[in-house]
Amino acid sequence: MVERETLKVNEQGRLEIGGCDCVDLAKQYSTPLYVLDEAYIRSVCRGYTAVLNTYGDALICYASKAFSTKAIYEICASENLGADVVSAGELYTALSANMPADKMIFHGNNKSPFELELAVKNGVHAVVIDSEYEVELLNEIARENGVVQNVMVRVNPGIDAHTHKFIQTTRVDSKFGFSIADGTALEIIKIITQKTNLHFVGPHCHIGSQIFSLEPFRLAVDKMTDFIVALNKEGVEVEELNLGGGYGVRYTDADAPLKPVEYVSAIIERLKECIAQKGIKKPRLILEPGRSIVAEAGITLYSVGAIKEIKGIKKYVSVDGGMFEAPRYALYGAEYDCILANRANEKPVETVTISGKCCESGDMVACDVKIPVAKSGDIVAVLSTGAYHYSMASNYNRNLVPPVVLVNEGKSDYIVKPQTYDDIMSRDQLPIWLKK
Ligand code: LLP
Repeated sequence: MVERETLKVNEQGRLEIGGCDCVDLAKQYSTPLYVLDEAYIRSVCRGYTAVLNTYGDALICYASKAFSTKAIYEICASENLGADVVSAGELYTALSANMPADKMIFHGNNKSPFELELAVKNGVHAVVIDSEYEVELLNEIARENGVVQNVMVRVNPGIDAHTHKFIQTTRVDSKFGFSIADGTALEIIKIITQKTNLHFVGPHCHIGSQIFSLEPFRLAVDKMTDFIVALNKEGVEVEELNLGGGYGVRYTDADAPLKPVEYVSAIIERLKECIAQKGIKKPRLILEPGRSIVAEAGITLYSVGAIKEIKGIKKYVSVDGGMFEAPRYALYGAEYDCILANRANEKPVETVTISGKCCESGDMVACDVKIPVAKSGDIVAVLSTGAYHYSMASNYNRNLVPPVVLVNEGKSDYIVKPQTYDDIMSRDQLPIWLKK
C-alpha cells in the first residue's frame, strides 16, 4: 500500500481513511462497505484543473460510468468539472445533482430515442455521435425541439494501447467510433454538416482504459490533429477536441502509474506543439478521466468468515462480499492489494486468496495476496475499489449491493444508503395465474 495523508496506518495499528478508523467504520456501518475518500477525489480534480489552466479553454468531464451517484456529481461540479454520461440514468442522476447540463457530454454507441430526447431537452453541451443511425434520429429530435444540437463524432484513430483486450476500445475491430483510416469518420462528419439541426463542434476519441504509458496519448494527439487538418481541408471547422480518458491507476505494487496530472500535462504539451506545427486553430480541449478520479479514493471493507486451507495448494479466506459488488476479478482477472484493517501494522506472512461468497468458483475478491495470518472476524480492506465497483455491482445471488460511505477529516456519512431485502423484492410480482 502506498500511504498518503488520508490513507494510512494509525497509532492503534489500524487502517485509517479520511481520518476515520476502518474498524470503527466497519462496526458503525457493517460490512461489506464501500468507503470513498473525498479529499483524494478533490485533490485529483484540482490537479487536473490546475494543469488545464496551462492550456486555456479546456474542460474535464468526469467519466461517471466509473462511479455514478448524486454525491460524486456534486463534488465534481463544485470542483468545476463537467461530466461524461452514457445513459438516461447517468444523465438523470447528474441533473438531479446540479451538474450543469452545458458541461455534460452524452456518449453511447446505441442511444435510444428517449435518451437522445432527454439529452436535447436538457441542453447537454454535446452529444457524441457513434452511428449513422443516430444522425437522422438526433437531427429530427433537435428539430422537433426547436434547437440546433452540438455534436461531436467518436472516431477511431487506430491506436493499440496495450491493455486488457476487453478494455480496449480503439482497435480497428471495435464497436466504438468511425475509423479515420478508411475514411468513414470524414464521411459521417460531412453528412452531419449538411443537417439543419446539428452543429458539429469537433472529433472525440478514447483510446482505452488503464493505460500507463504516455506514448499512446501523444500518438492520439498526433492522429487527431492530423484529422483536424484533413477536416479543415474539406472546409469543416473544428472548435473542440475531446481526447477521452484512460489514465492508469495503482491496483497492486506491480502497477506503476504516473501521477494523474502527468498524463494531462503530456497531452497538453503535445497538443500545443501540434497546433503550432500544423497551423490549426486552437480547439477547446475536453478530457474524460473516470478511473483516475475515483479508483484510488475507494476501499472496500469486509469481514472474514470461513477460512479453508487446501493442503499444499491454497488458503481461501472468505469474506462477506464477492463478484456481486467486486466484479472486476470475475470479468477481467483484475488484481488487487489488500490489508487487514484491524492489524494493519502486522507483518504479512502468508499468501492467500480472498474469496467471495457467491456460488461460482471464479468468485474471487483478491488473489494471491500476502497478509498476516487471518482469523474469522478480521476486517479486510481491499484497496483501489472506487472505480467500476459500485457502478458495476449487481444483486447476483440476491446479495445486497453494499452502501457507500464518504469520509473526510474524520467525518463519515452515507452517499448511498444500505439496500434492504424489501428493496430487491420491490419489483417482483406474481402474474395473475400464479396468484392463489
Ligand atoms: N470516455 C469514454 C468515451 C470511455 O469509453 C471511457 C471508459 C472513459 C472516458 C473513461 O475511462 P477511464 O478514465 O475510466 O479509464 N469497466 C472497465 C472499464 C471500462 C471503461 C470504458 N470506457 C473496468 O472496470 O476496468
